Amino acid sequence: MAIQRTFSIIKPDATKRNLTGAIAAKFEAAGLRIVASKRIQLSLAQAQTFYGVHSERPFFGELCEFMISEPIVVQVLEGEDAIAKNREVMGATNPADADEGTIRKEFALSIGENSVHGSDAPETAAEEIAFFFSGLELVG
Ligand code: CMP
Repeated sequence: MAIQRTFSIIKPDATKRNLTGAIAAKFEAAGLRIVASKRIQLSLAQAQTFYGVHSERPFFGELCEFMISEPIVVQVLEGEDAIAKNREVMGATNPADADEGTIRKEFALSIGENSVHGSDAPETAAEEIAFFFSGLELVG
């Protein structure tokens, strides 16, 4: 498997509890390099656009309100098989189903307040990285 890049969000429940460093350390320990990182606060329109694929889901309103409730940290992670590796390090969407040692098992509060987002495929990784970062911000 080649070197890949994936997109990550450290979500409001985690930034609020001062877990940014602890979560970044999990990525680095797994061999993922943080090649871009910034702390931002989303507008409602940005959250709705980013999560547009979920717009018909019953939790869409709750998800968008949560994502704008506090600052988030958006990051680009790089490494061997980075998309799958990041999903492994994050653990299952619902922390009740997440494996021991994963970010969501250790830190997530619920399926909604689940501490991190990670891209699920190469196409979405490319789209999500481009949504938040310009080429100039990706230094490798
Ligand atoms: P994420 O990887 O950011 O992608 C979509 C998010 O929707 C997901 O993580 C969860 O945080 C959230 N989500 C999924 N299912 C539910 C649910 N049943 N209730 C609330 N939020 C949900």
